[in-house]
Amino acid sequence: MAKPLIRSIKGTHDILPDQSWRWQRIENTVRAFMKRFGYREIRTPVFERTELFARGVGQETDIVSKEMYSFVDKSGNNLTLKPEVTASVIRAYLQHNLGRQSPMTKLYYLDRAFRQERPQAGRYRQHHQFGVEAIGSPHPETDAEVISIAHGVLKELGLSDLELRLNSIGSQTSRTNYRQALKAFLKPHLSELSETSRRRFDTNPLRILDTKVPHEIEILKDAPVLTDYLTPEDAEHFDAVKTLLRALGIPFVLDSRLVRGLDYYTRTTFEFTSSALGAQNALCGGGRYDHLVETLGGKPTPAIGFAAGIERILLALETNNNEAQPETIDIYFVCLDENARPFVLQLANKLRGLGFTVETDLLRRSLKAQLREANRLHARLALIIGETEFQNQTVQVKDLTTTEQKSVNWDSLVDYISRLNFNSE
Ligand code: HAM
Repeated sequence: MAKPLIRSIKGTHDILPDQSWRWQRIENTVRAFMKRFGYREIRTPVFERTELFARGVGQETDIVSKEMYSFVDKSGNNLTLKPEVTASVIRAYLQHNLGRQSPMTKLYYLDRAFRQERPQAGRYRQHHQFGVEAIGSPHPETDAEVISIAHGVLKELGLSDLELRLNSIGSQTSRTNYRQALKAFLKPHLSELSETSRRRFDTNPLRILDTKVPHEIEILKDAPVLTDYLTPEDAEHFDAVKTLLRALGIPFVLDSRLVRGLDYYTRTTFEFTSSALGAQNALCGGGRYDHLVETLGGKPTPAIGFAAGIERILLALETNNNEAQPETIDIYFVCLDENARPFVLQLANKLRGLGFTVETDLLRRSLKAQLREANRLHARLALIIGETEFQNQTVQVKDLTTTEQKSVNWDSLVDYISRLNFNSE
């Protein structure tokens, strides 16, 4: 009896060959885009000490308190598959003293993150992100640059109906002032709030602004607005960010409820959403985090960054009907003579060395089946070598677009193929 199949974990996805080219396109675009802005790639391990996220992202956040894949390894270490990348990047920044090379460190990453959320469209247990972290500057031009990278790269990837939602949650002082005002406003409504929000009322009342519960959203409509409580310095910083975004021609809407689900944020917070997506409509989220470096043991260093979800970008592109060409190959080698095999393998490698994409038959199929395979792969040429061709030191070169066929000598074969006009990559 056949053994039962083992399936992937709920909320994780295989990226199959007919989809992986879309991922490669995104990855290539991201890398080229980041290079133009002078951001350099960083890669951090897939798991870290649990403490890093508890301290960095915040014990009270949903991500840390409910969603982490944490485990104890055989040596008794408490480890976690990273639920986000910023804390790891800052850990690496500190561990390797990257700030010593230059007071401004500009990093980007392509990575995966793990959160045990309830899977639904656009929300998975393993997802992929790319993001940037600009470490070292408190100035609003850094905020503008980071937001403009997010905007530019999403546009370059082909996303159109983007909306930038922008807020400032201010410094600690602004938030302390606001927290009091918000608590005073919510106190009479306490009995109407959900259990989660009632708990947050004591632990972190700002997170109540992030609620998805309809009647809480209704109550919050009349709540005091955070930006009214900003200190003059925070207000000046936020004004400067808005002015710079206008100068860059990046439209935004102010969203005073955008507090985001991670505790490290200060001042600017932002998200890019797409109307092409459903409930999980945030393509990208980020903000300033001026105290995270300190929280993780470094000296006070301001920073700002964002991360964008690749699965969501692909979902939004699908809705936009943004299809690309199927893959093609240059040459399919049809080998019908056992003695010719070493020669075919050599010649295939030689052509690959010249940059052609070349496949050979590995199943010893019939001529008909091999040609069918060449057509399925959209090969431009089939090179056919049978017993007679091998004896005469020739190859039949069949152009699969015109079906023209020509016998070419081994000596002139590479030259002949090189002179053909190939337009595939
Ligand atoms: P985040 O908003 O938690 O921020 O995640 C960034 C993006 O990752 C989201 O906007 C979304 O597109 C995608 N994403 C998040 N969770 C999931 C999921 N379960 N399934 C699919 N996609 C998801 C951060 O992670 C911060 N570290 C961003 C940051 C960088 N802030 C400053 N620097």
